[in-house]
Amino acid sequence: MKNRYDERAPRLGAEPAPSPPLDPDPGLDLAGLDLTALDLDGKIRLLTGADNWRLPAEDRLKLRPLAMSDGPAGVRGVVMDERAPSSSLPCPSALGATWDPGLVAEVGRALGAEARAKNIDILLAPTVHLMRTPLGGRGFECFSEDPVLTAGIAAAYVRGVQSAGVACAVKHYLCNESETQRWTYDVRAAESVLRELYLVPFEACVREAGAAVVMSGYNSVNGATMTENTTLLRGVLKDEWGFAGAVLSDWHAARSTEATALAGLDLVMPGPGGPWGAQLAAAVRAGLVPEELIDDKVRRLLHVAGTIDGARKEAGADEAGRADPELLRRAAAAAFTLLRNEDGALPLGGDVRRLALIGPNAVHPVTQGGGSASVPPTGALSPAQALRAALASQAEVTTELVTEPGCITWAAVPEPDPATLVDPVTGQPGTRLEFRAGRGDLLAAEHRTATMFTWWDNLPEGVGWGGQGRIILRARFRAGQDGPHLVGAGGVGQLTLTVDGTVQAQGRTPVPADPVEAMVRPGEIRATVDLRAGQEAEVEVALLPENWAQGPISIRLGVVPAPDEDAMLAAAVRAAAGADAAVVVVGSGPATESEGFDRLGLGLTGRQDELVRAVAAVNDRTIVVVNSGMPVLMPWADDVAAVGCAWLPGQATGEALADVLLGRVEPGGRLPVTLPAAEADCPVLHAIPVDGTLHYDEGLLIGYRGFDRSGAEPRFPFGHGLGYTTWSLDSVRVEGPGQTRPAGPAAVLELTLTGRNLGERPGRDVQQVYVRPPDGDPSRPVRTLAAFAGLTAGPGETAQARVTVPARAFGRWDEAAGDWVYPPGEYLVEVGWSSRDLPASVLVTRT
Ligand code: BGC
Repeated sequence: MKNRYDERAPRLGAEPAPSPPLDPDPGLDLAGLDLTALDLDGKIRLLTGADNWRLPAEDRLKLRPLAMSDGPAGVRGVVMDERAPSSSLPCPSALGATWDPGLVAEVGRALGAEARAKNIDILLAPTVHLMRTPLGGRGFECFSEDPVLTAGIAAAYVRGVQSAGVACAVKHYLCNESETQRWTYDVRAAESVLRELYLVPFEACVREAGAAVVMSGYNSVNGATMTENTTLLRGVLKDEWGFAGAVLSDWHAARSTEATALAGLDLVMPGPGGPWGAQLAAAVRAGLVPEELIDDKVRRLLHVAGTIDGARKEAGADEAGRADPELLRRAAAAAFTLLRNEDGALPLGGDVRRLALIGPNAVHPVTQGGGSASVPPTGALSPAQALRAALASQAEVTTELVTEPGCITWAAVPEPDPATLVDPVTGQPGTRLEFRAGRGDLLAAEHRTATMFTWWDNLPEGVGWGGQGRIILRARFRAGQDGPHLVGAGGVGQLTLTVDGTVQAQGRTPVPADPVEAMVRPGEIRATVDLRAGQEAEVEVALLPENWAQGPISIRLGVVPAPDEDAMLAAAVRAAAGADAAVVVVGSGPATESEGFDRLGLGLTGRQDELVRAVAAVNDRTIVVVNSGMPVLMPWADDVAAVGCAWLPGQATGEALADVLLGRVEPGGRLPVTLPAAEADCPVLHAIPVDGTLHYDEGLLIGYRGFDRSGAEPRFPFGHGLGYTTWSLDSVRVEGPGQTRPAGPAAVLELTLTGRNLGERPGRDVQQVYVRPPDGDPSRPVRTLAAFAGLTAGPGETAQARVTVPARAFGRWDEAAGDWVYPPGEYLVEVGWSSRDLPASVLVTRT
């Protein structure tokens, strides 16, 4: 019998159908556009999503349904489905670490092209918050702790994406710097702090890069929720910056009718439903919202559509397709930030005949952060797999590789290797999903290859979001070793875990504080079963999803041999003791860095610190690679030969790491965030609202600005990073009419920086320019990053870069005047390689 759901296929996993290009052209006279073809309801209909990811179409305006997808580290599309995978790019903190807007623009263009291939019109990216606290769950989605670096990288990203003919929705305007109570907290910050820090990247994306969409966040700023924040939406964004595009609500962030419409929100997502529609029409008819405001919103929507199509015409039809894997690999290596490299520990050369690759993340790297930013990748090699392949291709030398995880970092039972699973019905490799009605009738079934699934919509009727139907995930698992195995069933709701027809566990998991946790770290029930190597066991997870109205629904299967951590550690130490070098890949565990919740501490989880120390005690050439999107504590940093940050490098993690370790590519990264020596040194650590309020009391002193003021010594300072060659900074020349200039908004400073590559291989240096203002006002930073430039040169060669220090670097926001002011005085312009290594300087006088 054909089941009802299959007849409606392809719904699960369906991508939006290709839509015809838009006409009229981008030269559209929006102000003069005749909207009279539409009545009030017809116009308002266009302003709320038609579904979770699409806006409505309107033939009379030649408007097709604009489709949206999350970014920023890949284009997921409108489904999370392993059958419609996406390129998984280095996370934004990794892109920040490149300090390379040119490369980031290339990455952006590739994302835009992939979005087009998936029929996506608006990419919900980039995330341009500052890393106010290193514990921020979504810190990996941000580029940096510094507004100037963030702005430079973010503007390049937007330009890149939009040049391919896809609009960027820059998010989340404003001050969504942490996750705890993100739906409701009220950020209290002085206007100078907003102006000099948090608005800067948004301003660059809008004014310099022409971002077509801005997404307003869930939180409030200074008492008004961001979808109702007239001061920041209409006042700053639209009136002051002249933003001509549309303001889009974060998902379910619009929670009122008139207030949002009046404040400057233009588009409500998702839909259908929500606070606009008939309620907004009634408000207009009652004279509470002027109809011109509705027309303005429609025009802004058409502006977005026009921008997309204008760029598409310029980019051409060919600008659609999968991102080039070579670019992913290059970007991940360019982001790798080498922090310490004693006695040439890296790169690994022919003298390494036996290499120990150790650590939980060597075997299971965390390639991306959790939440809406995650994508099902098109493929990925672990560091162990990639390094083995790279070593096997070495012509002259044979290096033996031994791999040991050393310890565990997971909290939920890990998903099994798909190669160990078969669909119990078809016998094909993979798993089986079934959807059953409340009474048990089969509504639909699918053969799949993943072990975790997420839906925002498109489940068979009666399953999820209030329905009584169940989702069932089945697989036949083949054990690889003798002994007890942990089996986990994950999901939010009523779970039943069955092994070989016997119910092993049953229970109800709690509803998480934030809906997105349901897809990142849903509750789990567990059982332990004894298996012999080669034995097959049929495992079934049945979930009756919790009865909630919105948010994703996930189901998950985990199976792993019960770990013996003492034995794992001992095996790792043995491997390290017998090797010429030991690479230890530690870092975040699965589901530790995510949207929806903040991290609890900066320490590496589990026994990772102990593992690093134990390996370093037996091997002098211990190289630690930290695989995390945000800072972790590195108490062993002085006791190992080398340390590097790989960030969350996306699906090219393994290959890029092999390239860097073997010296095929130079590690190109510089820290976009300060790495603290101790939690207590961080200017802002926890970001937990007090009575619903988050006071940004530290003012301007976040990141290195706070470290410089307190005098605390970072473990590694902002901007620091080593390549495989060394550089001298030969000269800093002030261009133009001398070092004394009138102060003011036009007073930029042009510098020419000259550096020399002192080493024996080509490399790229990142020279950073900081401005140190004259007075010692303790509430202001000692110095701030003002500009930066990459210098590329071959061995012994010099390279020059011209940089512009903008007038703003010599200005500050004056609360009383409500404007920028440019105080006269002597400013020290410092140049060098990190916020704590600035060997060159020039004194500039503003009169
Ligand atoms: C996130 C946004 C995301 C949206 C759609 C929200 O919960 O905050 O960043 O774009 O969901 O997935």
